[in-house]
Amino acid sequence: MFREVRDNTLYIDGCSTVTLAKKYGTPLYVYSESDIVRRFEELKKCFLEKYPSTRVAYAAKAFFPVAMAKLVDREGMCVDVVSGGELYTAIKAGFPAEKIEFNGNNKQLAEIEMAVEYGIGRIIIDSLQELHLIEDICREKGKKMNVLFRITPGVKSSSHDYIVTGKKDSKFGIPLDDEVILPQIKGAIDSEFVDFYGLHFHVGSQILNNDSHLQALDIMLNLVTKIKEELDYDVKELNVGGGFGVTYVDEERPSYSYYLDPMMEKIEKYCAEKAIERPNVVIEPGRSIVAEAGISLYTIGSIKDIKDIRKYVSVDGGMTDNIRPALYQAEYTGVIANKAEVEKTEVVTICGKCCESGDILIKDVKIPHPESGDLFAIFSTGAYGYSMASNYNKNLIPGVVMVSDGNDRLIVKPQTYEDLLRNEIL
Ligand SMILES: Cc1ncc(COP(=O)(O)O)c(C=O)c1O
Repeated sequence: MFREVRDNTLYIDGCSTVTLAKKYGTPLYVYSESDIVRRFEELKKCFLEKYPSTRVAYAAKAFFPVAMAKLVDREGMCVDVVSGGELYTAIKAGFPAEKIEFNGNNKQLAEIEMAVEYGIGRIIIDSLQELHLIEDICREKGKKMNVLFRITPGVKSSSHDYIVTGKKDSKFGIPLDDEVILPQIKGAIDSEFVDFYGLHFHVGSQILNNDSHLQALDIMLNLVTKIKEELDYDVKELNVGGGFGVTYVDEERPSYSYYLDPMMEKIEKYCAEKAIERPNVVIEPGRSIVAEAGISLYTIGSIKDIKDIRKYVSVDGGMTDNIRPALYQAEYTGVIANKAEVEKTEVVTICGKCCESGDILIKDVKIPHPESGDLFAIFSTGAYGYSMASNYNKNLIPGVVMVSDGNDRLIVKPQTYEDLLRNEIL
């Protein structure tokens, strides 16, 4: 277990959180490398080694400093990027270009040019204009690009509206509309400048039930049939996205097999019945790789006990290092890391230091009696915390430490006030 308690102190991957806070200061993001590796190992066993012609493209948006890009590469995975910045990070980390896949709903001309120049593995086309943009760039540069079409299958998953992406009313993907989609796919199949590989869908994020993935897959397999029947083309690749859920408070995290086995069964059965070769199957997990591996460490400052109403315990970070509670009412839990064995006697609200009443990190968490100077750890902040961090109120973005088997290393320095003004014309 990468999280444990020793001598009243919370340890993560063999490192004392109290020692880490003293060494690096707070707020601080701490990631267990062993836990991230364990997730990739799990995927190797239950997916990559179990089913041939499969790939995992880690969704960089969840957490992607250069050190993470190197880890993903070392583990033999591909990466899914959604911006020039993520693409640049991958390339700077030495990530093999052919193992990079590019998603996103409004890819910029310069971003596509960059992708074509680097010769990345796939572009997942998100709109009808994008195909023509890619063709123009490839024509000009004398290159060819492998492409998939991202389709919105019209399935609504049971997640917060902001992280549901597969329903028809969505800014992502191309709506499933035969008269529109089939001619476009034909255009891609016939194009001199792209190699059409297949279809992509992503139903949403933090999904704890496999229904929406399976429903979307059925819809996509129907489209595979139509492409075969009407265009006489065998789809080579099916990318089923990410979205696999994790434990934040007390949710039961399903295994990867829970999602992947029935999907693979469906695909294999379908291909056997239709007597077609099974397409490559690709998944794009982000959150489920890094969420639980990360914790946020804060120092408790002011404590306000509003009689008969609420006790506000303020920490030295907040919505600037973790926007998820304010953005979509995400729930977390945590502990006083230096009082890990002390009896929990009080229900308090953990709030940040930003000038927003909504800057609440945890509402109603039971903890031991808190005092200024205590160290507060929030669990499962590894996904979409650091990657969504901002400088609101000109607060500084904390540093990131990677820990493994009792060793720690800083992988992202904490911002300084000089960093804050770097791009300002003084
Ligand atoms: C296209 C695509 N793939 C993968 C992901 C990763 O999802 P998750 O972090 O839930 O696994 C997302 C996230 O929204 C996405 O939009």
